[in-house]
Amino acid sequence: MSQEEIIRSWTESNRKFMKSDFADMEVESDQQKKLPQPPLAKPAVREETLLLTKDFTGVLKEVNYLTLLEQRKSSRVFKEGSLTLDELSFLLWSTQGVTGIRGKGYAAIRPVPSAGARHPFETYLAIFHVEGLEKGIYHYLPLEHSLEWISTPFDLEELVSISLCDQEWAAKGAATFFYTAVPYRSEWRYSVRSHRVMLLDAGHVMQNLYLSSHAIGCGACAIAAFNQEVADRLLQVDGQEEFVVYAAPVGRI
Ligand SMILES: Cc1cc2nc3c(=O)[nH]c(=O)nc-3n(C[C@H](O)[C@H](O)[C@H](O)COP(=O)(O)O)c2cc1C
Repeated sequence: MSQEEIIRSWTESNRKFMKSDFADMEVESDQQKKLPQPPLAKPAVREETLLLTKDFTGVLKEVNYLTLLEQRKSSRVFKEGSLTLDELSFLLWSTQGVTGIRGKGYAAIRPVPSAGARHPFETYLAIFHVEGLEKGIYHYLPLEHSLEWISTPFDLEELVSISLCDQEWAAKGAATFFYTAVPYRSEWRYSVRSHRVMLLDAGHVMQNLYLSSHAIGCGACAIAAFNQEVADRLLQVDGQEEFVVYAAPVGRI
């Protein structure tokens, strides 16, 4: 097959993936087969976790919603300056925090919508400049609204930059957010229909990160250009049952 033919064939199958072609197909999902529901969020791997505040008094700038929408943009240049832990807490809560539990643990309700309330994402952070936190990779625990430290690679900035296809500016903010997908959370309910909606779900998370960053005097930039293997390794996820789908640096602007 020539490269042209390969690209044409991939384009066709990728377009098919974008369509709702499975809508009429009889597919019995694991939920319909009454298989056990996967956990709503990945449990902590560390014993020690840092509980974050949900008191956001003083974190938000006086800014009206219309201005926020008009001023939203992608930021690739950041001023020096740390985020406070409360500001980071607000960004985590407003993107993936849990505001309620539906049924007997059937679903988590969060500030963003998600198909079937499956919320198939985990949030990881490369922390560079956040008051009260050492540099390193952290994982957000949405049910407890807390953070756990994962690792502190010696060359964190360089690794983040390499993982994001050498977009060096993306390691020069206060923190770089990484979103992984845990696909089975959504596959359990939607089987082969889940993959298209998981990517739609991710967009909502990112828009909240943009708007929330602006609301605290910071900027963000969505990043979909990353090196899958390097990014997965950086976060210590297996690349099969969990893998990176989106990233964004956040910093003062
Ligand atoms: C899904 C997605 C992926 C993106 N990936 C990158 C990226 O890898 N690098 C980058 O510099 N900008 C990236 N961007 C930012 C876009 O370039 C930006 O949103 C666009 O230029 C419009 O600018 P604005 O956000 O300031 O309105 C991405 C945006 C989206 C929504």
